[in-house]
Amino acid sequence: MTLTLDPENGILDPCPQITPRYLSDLKMMFKDQQVVDEILKEENRLIYEIRYYPFRTSKSDMALAVTRIFPGSIGGEYHMTKGHKHERDDQPEVYYCVKGEGFLLLDTLEGEFQAIPWRAGTITHIPPMWAHRVINTGTDLLVFIGVFHLSAGHDYEIVAQKGFSYRVYAVDGKPALIRQT
Ligand code: 6PG
Ligand code: NI
Repeated sequence: MTLTLDPENGILDPCPQITPRYLSDLKMMFKDQQVVDEILKEENRLIYEIRYYPFRTSKSDMALAVTRIFPGSIGGEYHMTKGHKHERDDQPEVYYCVKGEGFLLLDTLEGEFQAIPWRAGTITHIPPMWAHRVINTGTDLLVFIGVFHLSAGHDYEIVAQKGFSYRVYAVDGKPALIRQT
């Protein structure tokens, strides 16, 4: 199976599944709930989209997902993915930043944390058991590819409960990592 990616726009072809994530889907992920509510009264902003392709074969199974995060911020906090840990504790992932700039946050949710600066061309291996979230700190789209096993699964609940150790805010127009207590 061969797919084609438009790297400027993050459009995958063919693509059997597109998942949009609106502000209402990741309401609880942003710190400033008052600002979230105010924005939601006006519009349910599209924060990012996931284009997914499962490579199904009889003996092995991998999946590829292209995510495109629109630029912007909510209460000073840059647009980001929900973030998750894989359900299976033996499932890593490889991320490749195709376009844009930002950070990949990696967090065990048990005290270990890393923020990897990202730009087009950065490739990062996400070890099993590390929660992962991508932040778009730029003024344009951020596009990245993730490759993982179909069976990895997504645990969003643990991230919603514990949260990442740092949030990324625009301070004087520049990204700043702010520790969460
Ligand atoms: C995965 C990948 C990736 C991720 C998207 C959106 O395991 O499927 O990490 O495809 O799901 O980038 O991020 P959220 O799943 O955290 O919304
Ligand atoms: Ni993942």
